Amino acid sequence: MNAGALVSRSTLAQEFAARRVDFPILAREVHGKPLAYLDNAATAQKPRAVIDAVRRYYESQNSNIHRGVHTLSEEATTAYERARDQVRDFLHAADRREIVFVRGTTEAINLVAQSWGSEHLGPGDEVLVSTMEHHANIVPWQLVCERTGARLRVIPIDDDGDVDLEAFERLLCERTRLFAIVQVSNALGTVNPVAEMVARARARGIVTLVDGAQAVPHMQVDVRALGCDFYAFSGHKLFGPTGIGVLYGRAELLDAMPPYQGGGDMIRMVSFEKSLWNDLPYKFEAGTPNIAGTIGLGAALEYVAGIGLDSIGAWEAELLEYATARAHERGDLRLIGTARHKASVLSFVMDRIHPHDLGTILDREGVAIRTGHHCAMPVMERYGVPATARASFAFYNTFAEIDALFAGLDKARQLLG
Ligand code: ALA
Repeated sequence: MNAGALVSRSTLAQEFAARRVDFPILAREVHGKPLAYLDNAATAQKPRAVIDAVRRYYESQNSNIHRGVHTLSEEATTAYERARDQVRDFLHAADRREIVFVRGTTEAINLVAQSWGSEHLGPGDEVLVSTMEHHANIVPWQLVCERTGARLRVIPIDDDGDVDLEAFERLLCERTRLFAIVQVSNALGTVNPVAEMVARARARGIVTLVDGAQAVPHMQVDVRALGCDFYAFSGHKLFGPTGIGVLYGRAELLDAMPPYQGGGDMIRMVSFEKSLWNDLPYKFEAGTPNIAGTIGLGAALEYVAGIGLDSIGAWEAELLEYATARAHERGDLRLIGTARHKASVLSFVMDRIHPHDLGTILDREGVAIRTGHHCAMPVMERYGVPATARASFAFYNTFAEIDALFAGLDKARQLLG
């Protein structure tokens, strides 16, 4: 690394180390050791700004939305709807009606599969996904395929974890109705060329969905530049609360889709003979939503915007490069996922030590990683492993925490190797 690059690395390191105080949990110890939280792909930690926004809502505004004429309800409604505008801006969507609040990415994809899928899929139709999908972008399609007689097709990936674009081109055909792809793989870290793939699908009139759960914490997203019809993400991986997520859908498609769930707030008029649906996006938001979570998500978006996703991406690339170099120094570790373009995920297996044992030993050292199949069993099958150990980095992580990870691996080797 040249002198200029070293200076920029150390400037970023200082800038991001200073952010750690925003996250109260990062100061805690686990088993008497400083916590090194490297499980950000599972869920990210919450800055005080998010914790405070949720607390403020419960302490001073708690009430239901869209229903009351009283002050608390009006304030809560304003805060809830402000978060919708924040999400619209975050995704660069054209219209706030295109932003539907759901529980998370899983519910967003289920909504599209059940609502759009049950109207547009039939016997002989095909839904196309890739081998590296998380179960949330596989199982909802399997369920709707079973019901409608459609068929799930799968784009293969190569040994590095890149999608096979030639196979993708071959699999797109006159029977393909929907193409659903993850933007960043949770198990491999691969960043897929989604804009290019979406363009190829849309040129054939195929509806497209992008699972952005692992992308939004690391890079700017512009749904209009991506050109996708649907985009899904979860708040909790983006430093927001759990139980809140977003489905973006092009208004034209959402308008034509039937409701996904029935209940309060999604109707215009109800009688026992017939009910009429509310306008977008409320047609898809039945029942009392996660008001506190939505407000917390808005606070998370504001917090992230204050740092800048380009800057976050630059620092995380440094973390990944450092961790990858340290992994390459070892002869006993195999990286799973070595794509050309990766987000800050390091998945690996170690000779003769099961990932779960690694996870347990690392926990005793204060290092939190995820071990298992990462809800992506077909990825494990593709690489012939039952599970991997996965360290996933957020902008508040440090080189010292990566050193703690590798020191823990040395310890595991001494104990079990
Ligand atoms: N999808 C989350 C993960 O990768 C839960 O850990």
